[in-house]
Amino acid sequence: MDFKDKVIIITGASVGIGEATALKLAAYSAKLVLVARNEEKLKQVASKIEKCKGIKPLIVKADLEKDEDVKKIVEKTIECFGKIDVLINNAGAGMIAGLKDGILPYEKMMRLNIRCPYFLTSLVSPYLIKSKGNVVNISSVASTKAVINLMPYCISKAALDMFTKCAAKELAMHGVRVNSVNPGPTVSEFHDRLGLGAKETEKLMKERAEESPLKKIAKAEEVADLIMYLASDMACSITGSVYVIDNGFLLP
Ligand SMILES: NC(=O)c1ccc[n+]([C@@H]2O[C@H](COP(=O)([O-])OP(=O)(O)OC[C@H]3O[C@@H](n4cnc5c(N)ncnc54)[C@H](OP(=O)(O)O)[C@@H]3O)[C@@H](O)[C@H]2O)c1
Repeated sequence: MDFKDKVIIITGASVGIGEATALKLAAYSAKLVLVARNEEKLKQVASKIEKCKGIKPLIVKADLEKDEDVKKIVEKTIECFGKIDVLINNAGAGMIAGLKDGILPYEKMMRLNIRCPYFLTSLVSPYLIKSKGNVVNISSVASTKAVINLMPYCISKAALDMFTKCAAKELAMHGVRVNSVNPGPTVSEFHDRLGLGAKETEKLMKERAEESPLKKIAKAEEVADLIMYLASDMACSITGSVYVIDNGFLLP
């Protein structure tokens, strides 16, 4: 795998799967653009990256729910590196909610998990067309499995999968690939951020591991390996594909 001189934007690079992906790509000499809201955490990731191959990443503090911030990501990347080769739409979050909670959770999940990747991809695509680059969207097994109390999240990730397929078809004529990685339960801050509390989160992760045929949950680094493969030229014949990495969680 070779990412030397490849300019790669990773959203949600401050922790979890995004951080793990950034660190792996840094080992292959990529020029990284790290996006998230927590600047302190981005700086910590950037410092680990710089130690790896001496290549300084660009930090863009951005709230993807704000259109001005999304535009800033592209402007700053072009200002700093002059091109874009890969976009990894990783930032996302879940929310415990269902019909009983009204429309706001739906709007929040759709905004963050599908509107943001849609908008950012639309802004980045002219540059990807120039570079014959690619996009990797991070979806979820929840895109095909209805999960109780996660309805808006499930719907948003199902929409993201269709976005992957439509964007792949639209951009294929320009030599740009678009794929998706759909993790099952994975170690990150995702479950803490659902607001369950430490004990509940630990219990949930144990249950999820027990429900998975391989009896474990994935590490963020394992998901990162799959993302990296799809982003690389090794995957040059793959577009519009949705890759599940879930320890067999979805098996009937
Ligand atoms: N972990 C799992 O079990 C699992 C399973 C299936 C799918 N996924 C998907 O994997 C992706 C990565 O999640 P993760 O597991 O690594 O979770 P995580 O550890 O909670 O990381 C989420 C990342 O998204 C960023 N983010 C959230 N809202 C943002 C916003 N409004 N603007 C900018 N950045 C924002 C966070 O950064 P800041 O807080 O610094 O902004 C953080 O870097 C998500 O799309 C998630 O849906 C995770």
